[in-house]
Amino acid sequence: MKILMVCLGNICRSPLAEGILKSKVDTSKITVDSAGTSGFHSGSLPDKRSIEVAKQYGIDITDQRSRLFTVSDFDSFDVIYTMDKSNYNNVIRLAKNEKDKAKVKMILSHQDVPDPYYGGNQGFQNVYKMLDEVCEEIAAKL
Ligand code: 4NP
Repeated sequence: MKILMVCLGNICRSPLAEGILKSKVDTSKITVDSAGTSGFHSGSLPDKRSIEVAKQYGIDITDQRSRLFTVSDFDSFDVIYTMDKSNYNNVIRLAKNEKDKAKVKMILSHQDVPDPYYGGNQGFQNVYKMLDEVCEEIAAKL
């Protein structure tokens, strides 16, 4: 099973989602990666505030580097979880066919994981909690 987490910049939310889900699954069997629909931060480390909140919970995400979501990701991954509706629309727009579209889901199905980039540390704590809960559910169903 191969799972891809997607947000806009791939520096705040999806790196946390990747790190959290990896901490809950057998990574020799389950592949977890993340990407962004913008290439603004390609090659960058996760945001310092995401690195910090993950570290508080014992998760190291400093091995991650931001990368752009590409059309080939539809072939490489079984499930593509987006953090919000805007990410969802951006990914769906790139789908080649219905099979690609069927792989794309909002990680919280009816709710956005709010973009914490322009806010303070509390936003990152909030995002961590939301992602930790949903990743627990995802891991339990794998
Ligand atoms: P992310 O957050 O999509 O959770 O990685 C953002 C990071 C950067 C920007 C926006 C959102 N930005 O505009 O640079």
